[in-house]
Amino acid sequence: MTPILRTVADLRTLVRGWKAAGEMIGVVPTMGALHDGHLSLARRARGECDRVITTIFVNPRQFNNPEDLKRYPRSEAADATLLASVPVDAIFAPEPEEVYPEGFSTNVSVSGVSEPLEGKMRPGHFDGVATVVSKLFGMTLADRGYFGQKDWQQLQVVQKLVRDLNLAVTIVGCETIREPDGLAMSSRNVRLSAEARGRAPVFFAAISAAARDIRAGQSDRMAIREAAEAMRAAGFERVEYIELRDAESLLPSDDSSRPRRMLAAAWLGGVRLIDNIPV
Ligand code: PAF
Repeated sequence: MTPILRTVADLRTLVRGWKAAGEMIGVVPTMGALHDGHLSLARRARGECDRVITTIFVNPRQFNNPEDLKRYPRSEAADATLLASVPVDAIFAPEPEEVYPEGFSTNVSVSGVSEPLEGKMRPGHFDGVATVVSKLFGMTLADRGYFGQKDWQQLQVVQKLVRDLNLAVTIVGCETIREPDGLAMSSRNVRLSAEARGRAPVFFAAISAAARDIRAGQSDRMAIREAAEAMRAAGFERVEYIELRDAESLLPSDDSSRPRRMLAAAWLGGVRLIDNIPV
């Protein structure tokens, strides 16, 4: 079975040995409740690095809603079994006090790219992500970090963080893994009732249709309105945003010569879903 490390000291002892042997280390940061999306990141890391660490840490600082934190799915034993199938070399699963010991007082905040969309809907979320990701890079001494494109804005925030702070980590953004009906894999999907799960594919179908229509010359506003209507008609109780943005800065963009991304968040059956697609 894969070793599960709980302390930074134990992790450091392990990775210092790997570093001394000149091995390249990949880290796959997760909050557990692993699914095929996470495993695809771990497999990619396995193919590109000598050593792979998966971190499992439900980071309290990135939850702006205490109820969401309490209800976040936790399944460490099942996660360890899945990771053994990749396989990875180590699992780092610290307690919150190990990551944020008493007196911890640093906050990493990436301005600009972290402010709109998820940043606006979930105040403080990206500070929590940037802080913990900085710490995980420092703890693991990783050379490469693997992140899913499903959290597109998070990926841009992490890229900016690494550039701005000259961190010696290469960020690898990996394709979103989807269920056969198009729903992006997410640890929160397990909270969908069977009924809501049946309606959920409308989310990706609606933003895919909007992206296609915009590429074909339809106005952004019209395409987005139609996508929101399709989602409401399918029973989504709230469409928080559907936005066409510059893929990197996440500023509003009508410049079709640059890569653009449509990003969306919506509530279905009491569960908040996010997704995005290139335009
Ligand atoms: O994407 C996630 O699961 C989390 O935001 C991350 C990157 C592990 C940081 O806690």
